[in-house]
Amino acid sequence: MAKEQTFSIIKPNAVKKNVIGPILTIFEKNGLKVAAAKLTKIPKEKCEEFYAEHKARPFFSELVAFMTSGPVLLMVLSGENAIAKNREVMGATDPKKAAPGTIRALYADSMGENAVHGSDSPSSAEREIHLFFDKSEIVNL
Ligand code: CDP
Ligand code: MG
Repeated sequence: MAKEQTFSIIKPNAVKKNVIGPILTIFEKNGLKVAAAKLTKIPKEKCEEFYAEHKARPFFSELVAFMTSGPVLLMVLSGENAIAKNREVMGATDPKKAAPGTIRALYADSMGENAVHGSDSPSSAEREIHLFFDKSEIVNL
């Protein structure tokens, strides 16, 4: 296994529910460290760029509206096998299919409002991290 960085978002529904702490605890208990963090509202155009791969999907406009509806916590997470580890602790996209104890099983409200985002591959992680963070903002853990 190799040390990796991945990109994570605590989505507006989870920030609104005041569960940033419990979600970070799950990351930390699973060996993921916060290497950068920013609490912010994502501008619409940036959000459309971030989710560009989904542009043609029927849920795209609803997804962008939700993701720009309130503050989110943007993070770089660092750790052994961080990309796959993060996807594992997040749980499936559809919270009804998410394994018990995963972040989405615990804190998602629906398929769209599913509490967290996590990069799905090394190339996505690289692209997503640099869309939101300068190199100088990321701690070398
Ligand atoms: O976030 P993840 O990589 O698990 O799923 P995705 O297929 O990349 O979809 C991105 C996001 O779009 C999901 O996390 C959901 O918030 C949303 N989505 C949706 O609203 N309806 C779907 N049928 C699929 C995804
Ligand atoms: Mg995805």
